[in-house]
Amino acid sequence: MAPKTYIVEHLDEELGPWSELEYLAIATESHEAGAKFLLSSLPSAFKVPDALNAVPSFVAENRGVEELYAAGKSRVCLLDPSASKDLAPEDGDNFDVFLFGGILGDDPPRDRTSELRKKGFEGRRLGPKQMTTDTAVRVTRLVVEGKTPLLEIPYVDDPDLQFNEHESTSMPFRYVKDKDGKPIMPKGMVDLIGKDADKAIDDLF
Ligand SMILES: C[S@@+](CC[C@H](N)C(=O)[O-])C[C@H]1O[C@@H](n2cnc3c(N)ncnc32)[C@H](O)[C@@H]1O
Repeated sequence: MAPKTYIVEHLDEELGPWSELEYLAIATESHEAGAKFLLSSLPSAFKVPDALNAVPSFVAENRGVEELYAAGKSRVCLLDPSASKDLAPEDGDNFDVFLFGGILGDDPPRDRTSELRKKGFEGRRLGPKQMTTDTAVRVTRLVVEGKTPLLEIPYVDDPDLQFNEHESTSMPFRYVKDKDGKPIMPKGMVDLIGKDADKAIDDLF
């Protein structure tokens, strides 16, 4: 099978610390799998973090996906929570490029993926539940490269992250489950969520 390209079209103004950790996880895992990860539509003034630049197969692009794939649109699959068809292993033969919205998860979802849907790429859903962007890429890789049907992937929905005896946060997303039954999250994410929760409590006083 030809190596796959995973593209995240960055749709937020800035690159916040959550997105940075998600993008770093996607870059590292794509590189380990022999695939390319491209972060597209970056504003010209955008400073790519050193950790991301250090991943050899990572590519930062100022151009948007429409321009990049003007001639090969039919090989690009948009992962779209509103698509009518779910992603299946045979989509690995139909598409070379998998496109995701570079948007942080929100609850309730605001359907910002619609900004990419209107560009006319063919869409596939990853089941009914919202995933973080790095989870969506991980699941897509398991389906199209690992040939695992979507329904056979082990998931954890809405996990509670317990920081100490008194503090926990519920994450309203679907994650892939690791061998210990825990949600797979980017390195550093649990600490970052814990710090944000502490800050939110401090801001109350
Ligand atoms: C955190 S999600 C954003 C969903 C968001 N609430 C929205 O406004 O569309 C980031 C990206 O992951 C992909 N994604 C997440 N869950 C998905 C699902 N269930 N099916 C297909 N794609 C999904 C989509 O490409 C989406 O743009």
